[in-house]
Amino acid sequence: MRILVIGGAGYIGSHVVKSLLQNNVQVRVFDDMSTGQAVNLFKDAEFIKGTILDSDALEHALEGVDGVIHLAAKKAVGESMEYPEKYAQNNLTGAINLLNAMVKKNVKYLVFSSSAAVYGIPQYAQVDENHPVNPINFYGFTKLEMERLMQWYDTLKGIKFVSLRYFNAVGYDAEGDILGLEKNPQNLLPVIMETLTGIREKMAVFGTDYNTPDGSCIRDYIHVSDLAEAHTLALKYLQKNNQSQMLNLGTGRGHSVLEMILETEKLLNKKINYTIAPRRSGDPETLTAIATKAEKLLNWYPQQSDLKNIILTTWAVYQKNG
Ligand code: WQD
Repeated sequence: MRILVIGGAGYIGSHVVKSLLQNNVQVRVFDDMSTGQAVNLFKDAEFIKGTILDSDALEHALEGVDGVIHLAAKKAVGESMEYPEKYAQNNLTGAINLLNAMVKKNVKYLVFSSSAAVYGIPQYAQVDENHPVNPINFYGFTKLEMERLMQWYDTLKGIKFVSLRYFNAVGYDAEGDILGLEKNPQNLLPVIMETLTGIREKMAVFGTDYNTPDGSCIRDYIHVSDLAEAHTLALKYLQKNNQSQMLNLGTGRGHSVLEMILETEKLLNKKINYTIAPRRSGDPETLTAIATKAEKLLNWYPQQSDLKNIILTTWAVYQKNG
């Protein structure tokens, strides 16, 4: 089986490539290297530099391919509200180009990197796949639109897809094979790490007046290697069942912002310089997944998502090159 991984040089994509290679899948990475990094490429995977905005390049990359994993999208929520045109072009035009190229090259399977952002403000804390979808930012809108496009291309052209709705992706490959650090990260754990390594002088906790046990927001942190494994299993599912699915990927457990900071301090025996700041707009109080559908359909069980492993695998990479 040969799989095209679009965005395979990125943070999640490189972990997906590793999981595929470990399962003896032939991998071809297609990445424009706008945020992907050379250090994340595996020598056992073929690499084509190219953009999903170039249909000819996409068609060429799809030659001899059995399925596609598509992770190449812009993903900064705040930026998507300021520059929607950039997100429309990359995440929507790019996705349409991909679907059309797949039709042309007769490639039938697609695993798509979606997001809990499709749900918008949760109406209940533990979100299942039947929760209404109503994104509150343009980034989440682009992910939902792609899900809808895939449903049409399934009905009209027989492309079968699994849309994986990630909750909060964290952690790094435990064997140290993936070392690329995101530049100028805004997500909690990288911000904690940058504060520890001195890249940032201090960090802010956005709100401690929420209706949660310690007042800070609660999220479902899922280790990126667990996420990666779900992509490999989703491909197997498509080959076996030929049926499209939307699946949450999370642990079902929540941790608060303060818990993440205090646990990091305890595990690393270091102090983190943080202040309490006002709430960040658009942050839901609690967002955790019900991921039993993925467990059942893919036989997927997160193995690496305990907080200790998440923090230590991330710190290992930051300590090395942060
Ligand atoms: C987690 C918690 C912050 C930084 C985002 C996207 C979502 C998905 C995953 C891509 C929140 C708090 C953070 C800081 C803080 N993206 N925080 N200080 O917002 O849950 O999810 O990433 O698919 O669509 O919205 O993740 O890591 O930004 O925040 O206090 O410096 O940490 O307020 O409560 P979020 P996050």
